[in-house]
Amino acid sequence: MTASTTPHPHLTHLIQEFEFPLDGAVAVMDAFHRRMEAGLSGQTSSLRMLPSFLSRPRGTETGRYLALDLGGTNFRVLEVSLDGAGRADIVAASRFVVPEEVMRGPGRGLFDFLAECVAEFFGRHPGGRPDEQTLAFTFSFPVEQHSVSSGTLIAWTKGFTATDVAGRDVVALLSQALNRRGLAHIRVAALVNDTVGTLLAGAYAHPACDMGVILGTGTNACYPEARKRIATLLSVGQDGEMIVNMEWGNFDGLPGNRFDAMVDDASPNPGRQRMEKMVSAMYLGELGRLAVLDLARAGVLESGIQGVLDCPFSLSSKDLALLAQGGGPGSDRFGPLAESDRQALALTGRLILDRSARIAALAVASVLTWMDPALASAHVVAVDGALFEHNPSYRAEMVRTLGLVCGKGAENIDLVLVKDGSGLGSAIAGAVAVTA
Ligand code: BGC
Repeated sequence: MTASTTPHPHLTHLIQEFEFPLDGAVAVMDAFHRRMEAGLSGQTSSLRMLPSFLSRPRGTETGRYLALDLGGTNFRVLEVSLDGAGRADIVAASRFVVPEEVMRGPGRGLFDFLAECVAEFFGRHPGGRPDEQTLAFTFSFPVEQHSVSSGTLIAWTKGFTATDVAGRDVVALLSQALNRRGLAHIRVAALVNDTVGTLLAGAYAHPACDMGVILGTGTNACYPEARKRIATLLSVGQDGEMIVNMEWGNFDGLPGNRFDAMVDDASPNPGRQRMEKMVSAMYLGELGRLAVLDLARAGVLESGIQGVLDCPFSLSSKDLALLAQGGGPGSDRFGPLAESDRQALALTGRLILDRSARIAALAVASVLTWMDPALASAHVVAVDGALFEHNPSYRAEMVRTLGLVCGKGAENIDLVLVKDGSGLGSAIAGAVAVTA
């Protein structure tokens, strides 16, 4: 395909399928607000709106805190220092890869693995243990919290299927595993979602920060809500604010295409996390693989690339981003490509990434206009996650979309990368919980 040739009709069709026209933006934002309202008032809703039992930090919290961060295939143990003036630094960190059989095996094995990593961290960093033997646990899955330090896993996401964890208190499971590993003196003081960690880290440094967003393996967001609007909190006081973990990856008000349906059908959680499956890094490569295979089967591509993509999840979101840029190692694996094919693949990659960024921006706009309908105040949105961090064009598409959807109000929105937000924020949650 060159600039002068008409695209193959099948390619034109694919463009239409992945385009996310903004003329439907108002309807999507309305649907978002309705689901938020329903979730907050305790009705069944695809937006669960889960209270975190935390509010934003003052920025003056100090000390050294231990934090655990489980969000996907990586598990991190961190020691974080807070200087009381908006600065949070990682002073020691160990990263562990969670083996596939641990993610998908018995839950007890998963928590024993985490406890073993904590012991290994102490072995590697013997001098740096904080005085307080407490830690904060970032657990980036939907959890119904009962207090700042307890909560029940509602359902696994992001490919985790470890058994006997859903419906149980994950802090109790972690504490029991720490006991078994001889670390009974360690108390879990706070349980936080990664979005909450990211908002805490953002707000520690920027007073105007009022939203935390993850655009990585999974996607989700949180914001501070007036306690009196959270029906499930009526018994524990109505003054002030509480951060609400929205679990927006489960939003069900977006128009999906046949590729979205294929990804959903083949997943371990069909019908759930529909927005996450359109937006997050875990699924974008797979959407790209299915779309490229479709082009190949329809005879749009000249190069014989089919065999390369037979295996599900063999294209990562990183590969897709490289394809979108028109080349790079992501396209090497296809062998020499005809120029028209290279262009078709780049277009496919861009369509999928741009759609993701547009949906993410619409979701951000929905939450901000819920808090501030006229967007009259300044809003710093703390964002963490590889999709946002490593793709400059992704951020640019989000900013462009916010401009189109929010008009002048978009000038009050600042998307700020808070690198390591989930881990840093976990420590801040520990500080808030310990001093509360
Ligand atoms: C989980 C959320 C998490 C998000 C980002 C989703 O799959 O349900 O709890 O915040 O991923 O890690």
